[in-house]
Parts: sequence; C-alpha cells; structure tokens
Amino acid sequence: MKDLKIGLLGAGTVGGGLIELLENRQQALQKRIGRNLRIVAVADRSYARKAFLQGKSFKVSDDASIVLENPEVDVVVELIGGLDPSRQWVLQALANGKHVVTANKALLANHGQEIFEEARKARKEIGLEAAVAGALPVIRNLRRVWIGSEIQEMFGILNGTCNFIITRMQKEDMPYEQALAIAQEKGFAEADPTFDVSGRDAAQKLAILSSLAFDHLVQETDIRVEGITELSPLDHAMAMRMGRVIRLLAVAKRKSDGYHLRVHPALIDANHLLSSVEEENNALFTNDPYSGPTMIVGRGAGAHPTASAVLGDIAAIARSEDGSPEVWLSGTEKLQCATDAWYRFYLRFRTLDRAGVLASISRVLADHDISIASMHQEEGSEPVDVVILTHDARESNLAHALELINKMDIIRAPTVALRLEEPGRD
Ligand SMILES: NC(=O)c1ccc[n+]([C@@H]2O[C@H](COP(=O)([O-])OP(=O)(O)OC[C@H]3O[C@@H](n4cnc5c(N)ncnc54)[C@H](OP(=O)(O)O)[C@@H]3O)[C@@H](O)[C@H]2O)c1
Repeated sequence: MKDLKIGLLGAGTVGGGLIELLENRQQALQKRIGRNLRIVAVADRSYARKAFLQGKSFKVSDDASIVLENPEVDVVVELIGGLDPSRQWVLQALANGKHVVTANKALLANHGQEIFEEARKARKEIGLEAAVAGALPVIRNLRRVWIGSEIQEMFGILNGTCNFIITRMQKEDMPYEQALAIAQEKGFAEADPTFDVSGRDAAQKLAILSSLAFDHLVQETDIRVEGITELSPLDHAMAMRMGRVIRLLAVAKRKSDGYHLRVHPALIDANHLLSSVEEENNALFTNDPYSGPTMIVGRGAGAHPTASAVLGDIAAIARSEDGSPEVWLSGTEKLQCATDAWYRFYLRFRTLDRAGVLASISRVLADHDISIASMHQEEGSEPVDVVILTHDARESNLAHALELINKMDIIRAPTVALRLEEPGRD
C-alpha cells in the first residue's frame, strides 16, 4: 500500500512533538494502519535554528510552497497557529487537493465555516481533534459517538493554565500572582498569559464545541467571557465552606429562551465529577437524554498529547483514503500475560485475641518476604479483626503465606486480601 505523505507547516511545540511521535511509533503505526505515514516536507520560518530538523529525510524550508505546492503531499498539517497566514495556507492546501489536519482553535473558531465549505467543495477532509482539549477525543465524540444525540448542556474545563492556577490557589491558599508564577515556572503558562487567563482560549474552544454540538454557526464573539484574574484565596475559602469549588468553566446550554454560551469562573458542588479535575487537566462533561451524563478527562495540551490527537486524525485519513475496512488486530500473535505481580496488600485477619497471634502471622509473612507497613487491631469481643497493610509483595508469595495462615487454629475466617492499585506507579 502506498505511503501517506505528510507536509508539515510549523515545527514548534506540537509540530516537533509530531515529528518525534511519527519517528518513535513508525513500525506500530504501519502495522496498525497498513500504510506508512511519512513526512516529506516541513516549512517553518525559523527552521535553520531548529537542530531537530537537520539531517532528516524530508525537505525543510521557510518557504511554505514546499508543502502547499508539493504534488507528493497528501495531507497538510497546519501547526503554526494564529489566523494569518494559516487561513490562506489551509485554503490553498484544500484548493490544491490536499487533506488538512490542524490544531488551530483560533482559525476554526473564526473561519471554521469557510474552511469546511472549501473542504466540501474539494472533497477533502479536515482533522481538528487537536484544536480542543489535546489528547481528549471530544471532537470525535461529538461528530461520531454522539451523532444521534441532542446535547442539552456541556461544561468544559478547557484551559489547563487556568485550571492549574485555580487549583493551586484553592489547595495552597495562595494568591493569583503566586500561582501564576508557579504555572510559568512549570511551563503551564506563557510569559504573557493574557490569552489564557482572560478566558479567550477557552472561548475559542467552546465556539468549536458548541458549533458541533448544536449544529449551528457559533463564533468566538457569541460567547460571554470572564477570566480568572480577579479571584482571591478568600473566594476559594468561602466556596469550600459552602461545599463548593471554583473552576473556570466553558458552559453551553440549550434552553427554551435560546442557547447560553459562557466562559466564566463558577462555583460547583464539591461532589460533582468536574470538581475532581485538578492541576493542568482538562475535562468535558456533557448531558444528553440518550447517552446520559458523560465526562472525559485528561491532558488537554502539551507537545505529545496534542501531537497524538493530530496523529489520530492523520491515521483516520490514511484509513479512509485507503478504503479498506479496519481490521480487528494488526497481528495474530497471542498476548503474553504476566503470571505474577507485585502489589501492596490490605490484609484482614479474623483471629482469636491471644498473646502471640500477631507474632505468628508476621512470622509467616516474613518467611515469604512480605514486610508489614502498618497494623491495626479493632477492639471488641473475640474473634477480632487485625488489619495489616504490607509493603510491595509478590502476589504468589502472599498466596502461599495465606494458605499457611488460614490453616492456623487462631484464624477464624478466610483472610481478606485486597490489592492497592496506584495508577501511574510502576
Ligand atoms: N502547545 C500546545 O500544547 C497546543 C495545544 C493544543 C493546540 N495547540 C495549537 O497548535 C498550534 C501550534 O501550537 P504550538 O504550541 O506548537 O506553537 P509554536 O510552538 O509557537 O509553534 C509554531 C511554529 O510555527 C512557526 N511559524 C509561525 N508562524 C509561521 C509562519 N508564518 N511561517 C512559517 N512558520 C511559522 C513557528 O516559528 P518560530 O519558532 O519562529 O515562532 C514555530 O516553529 C496552535 O494553533 C495552537 O493553538 C497547541
């Protein structure tokens, strides 16, 4: 099957991430898609300063025509941002018969209609998953998974910079300026954070989401926007006293008097799913009479999360161009599952309340390389419950140890063993 050839406009944070991802995942992608995804040309105004662009197999230039006018290129990936020259370049790419993938929310929030009209005329596809909430598949859900839905309301945490600042203010009782400085230090906020903290970035994303959810043209200017700069630690403390937390929400509601589109800081119930979205994470909560309430949460920005959304769109184009149906698996090899594992365990022993009981249990555990992190005994009439939390232990060792312990006279019921799952920990 012939390669899908990519022309990249802009090799900055996301463009650089895409080049890296395509290199690192080339073989897996080829297996999964059945085609090779290959960058053939990159245009970037400061390509000469970017060492990672040198010595590659693709052409590099500051002249966008090496991408736009290149007959080899099947898909143009626009990652320069802004409205100008992105708009002209995207239109030119479509006119030249190329599919387009873009992460440019400003472009889509302001010229989405025009771009999709050109794509329709050219019978080409536009991939835009990365324009809203990075790695979270919110666009795909709105356009595919929820195609039959009638979204009543959406609440988005769509700006990682604001969410990071707000949750730091809330948790560490710190003023806005201090939380902003930490966000800047960690690379979650720009040196000039105005676009993010004013709520404009979230408004552009909401314009795209509400256009798709409500199937009507929405522009950035239709959205009422308030930012987070006026919040103080007192607001967070008062909200918490009321059992609520503050988040910058992008809100879209379908109501009898029309659509309500807003971006603003708002108090939400501390028990609502959205209140658990902290730090730089993004989320989209939707409510629809058919699918019911749903929430997607995760990394909404950054080189790799955004590049993976771009890559997802490129892969979808490669598959649809190819026309062959998706296969269940790219191979037939059987998965090798591990037979043993390491866990920390919660163990509850139902025992007689006698001297030496704990010593007997601990001895068997120690004989099986299981060390105790903490121990707790409930007072009461016999038999009593003794709860032990272990350090990391081998599952198979614990099974042997419990086999012996459960046979002891002092044990009055089979021991309960629960694993501590700690996502993200190796
Ligand atoms: N960064 C994220 O986490 C993220 C997340 C979601 C969506 N996005 C979107 O992805 C797009 C790219 O963002 P980014 O963060 O990768 O931006 P970036 O780091 O500023 O990269 C843009 C690249 O394009 C180059 N460029 C700008 N204007 C150009 C022009 N006229 N001609 C040729 N090259 C040009 C820039 O060169 P210089 O180095 O000279 O500036 C830079 O290398 C934007 O639309 C952004 O909104 C980004």
